[in-house]
Amino acid sequence: MSPVLLLLLPALSPALAWIPVEDWESGNVTASVGESGQCLCHVYLPDTTFPADRVEHMQQVSKDLILEVEIQMNKMVSYEGKLEVYLKELKDLTMRVDMMQSSADNYIKLDFELLRIELREFEALVSQLKDSLNSSSPMFDSLYTEIHNMTLIVNQLETFDRSNLEVIRIEFAKLQKKLEECQKDQEFIKPDIGNCNHTGIMSLSKPMVVQLNAHLSSSYQYGGWGKDSKPVRGYESMYYYGGYSSSAVYDFYLYSNYDNLILRSSFQKHHLPNGWEGTGNNYIVHGNSIYYQHNTPFSMSKLNLTSTKYDYRVISAASERFSYSYSENQNLDFAADETGLWVMYASDVSKGKIIIAKIDEKSFGIEDEWNTDAFKQLTGNAFMACGVMYATRSVDLNTEEIFYAFDTKTNEGKHVSIPFQKFQEKYTNLDYNPTDQKLYMYNNGYYVSYNVKFNKE
Ligand SMILES: *[C@@H]1O[C@H](CO)[C@@H](O)[C@H](O)[C@H]1NC(C)=O
Ligand SMILES: *[C@@H]1O[C@H](CO)[C@@H](O)[C@H](O)[C@H]1NC(C)=O
Ligand SMILES: *[C@@H]1O[C@H](CO)[C@@H](O)[C@H](O)[C@H]1NC(C)=O
Ligand SMILES: *[C@@H]1O[C@H](CO)[C@@H](O)[C@H](O)[C@H]1NC(C)=O
Ligand SMILES: *[C@@H]1O[C@H](CO)[C@@H](O)[C@H](O)[C@H]1NC(C)=O
Repeated sequence: MSPVLLLLLPALSPALAWIPVEDWESGNVTASVGESGQCLCHVYLPDTTFPADRVEHMQQVSKDLILEVEIQMNKMVSYEGKLEVYLKELKDLTMRVDMMQSSADNYIKLDFELLRIELREFEALVSQLKDSLNSSSPMFDSLYTEIHNMTLIVNQLETFDRSNLEVIRIEFAKLQKKLEECQKDQEFIKPDIGNCNHTGIMSLSKPMVVQLNAHLSSSYQYGGWGKDSKPVRGYESMYYYGGYSSSAVYDFYLYSNYDNLILRSSFQKHHLPNGWEGTGNNYIVHGNSIYYQHNTPFSMSKLNLTSTKYDYRVISAASERFSYSYSENQNLDFAADETGLWVMYASDVSKGKIIIAKIDEKSFGIEDEWNTDAFKQLTGNAFMACGVMYATRSVDLNTEEIFYAFDTKTNEGKHVSIPFQKFQEKYTNLDYNPTDQKLYMYNNGYYVSYNVKFNKE
């Protein structure tokens, strides 16, 4: 067995407990029966020597690895309709293989260990996906075999020279193509984007944990991430992130696409200038503008990313006394849905109950308002979808529920109970995005998302 892995296992043991240990320790020969009954065997693990001077680096990377594995484990329980996500992850892997090619030889061995672990996870995920879809599709069978084969290939590498990397790269490319085909096959399960002909939210998927924030800091508990809810041309794939160790809002990072979000490689950083600082982490990006809560004066603020101009509007009724239950200073919560741009706040007159306000984008003024019966301080967070406000609250450490829905079309509010699972207890930002019908949550420093299922009757 590879000495590199021997060193990693003790550090990772809780997180890796689900990987069958005997698979890793059975020496240079393993055998298993593939999906279609074929025998997959003869894995040769080269007896490389581990260089002591890399221990420190290994420890650092193994820390990241623990996180990665935890995240991957979490993903394993939520595979419904996840093909798209697998594909993105695979692209990430492909990119990392490319990077490995150009990186110093020193770190390559560890990267291979990481690849092996991730491939194993892919194998498990595809297998679960197959089960969940009751699919007897030959596409899935061959996908499964290929991922299994990839694991073998990675294991079989005796040296870490360029020619081997080339083999891996080609294999990844093939695998990626397969996944893409598979995804096309599943196109019919894609949500009905933009359609509001339904009676509201029926359920949320299990949480999809993307990763720890771009600062790689679990102390950055306050923040938000997501996609532009009405992207301008050329920025359809853009993601944003902002985070900090307090509820202060002082900078935003923009990523050209999902891959770069994953690689934590932003194409733009906006440091809010003096006088434009914000707070509360309930910002969104809509029409290539960031809408966030402005400190002084207390108001809604807009940073137009196209013109890089700032603007603000005071909502005279809005009170700074009422925040959501998980975090302080969340007085103005921005939201966007199929019908446009919104801000939610509470006032002294409303006695702390949430008021929904529709924002006119052109004038950046409020065009209409609705009073709800949801007490802001008892609410975890709120978002809009198809003109309906949904308010959430805690059920227990692992469970949250949408407990209240207010329809601005009928001017009616009602109590509902739509429970959903949390990755971690607290979150500071929860927003629906009408372009992909997903909820984006910033959950104790992690990027988390949910698929939303609507009640189509
Ligand atoms: C494992 O490989 C070594 C050296 O390559 C060989 O001597 C040994 O017999 C192999 N063990 C098994 C169980 O095949
Ligand atoms: C999958 O198969 C099981 C048992 O055959 C059945 O109960 C279930 O409804 C099926 N699920 C789907 C999504 O077809
Ligand atoms: C997997 O590997 C086996 C043995 O090397 C090979 O016969 C098979 O064609 C491979 N399958 C795929 C789908 O690449
Ligand atoms: C909305 O959905 C219902 C039921 O699925 C259907 O009968 C109706 O024609 C749809 N209306 C529109 C405007 O699409
Ligand atoms: C942002 O600025 C651009 C360029 O000046 C302008 O065309 C666009 O309407 C602005 N968007 C918003 C939401 O203010």
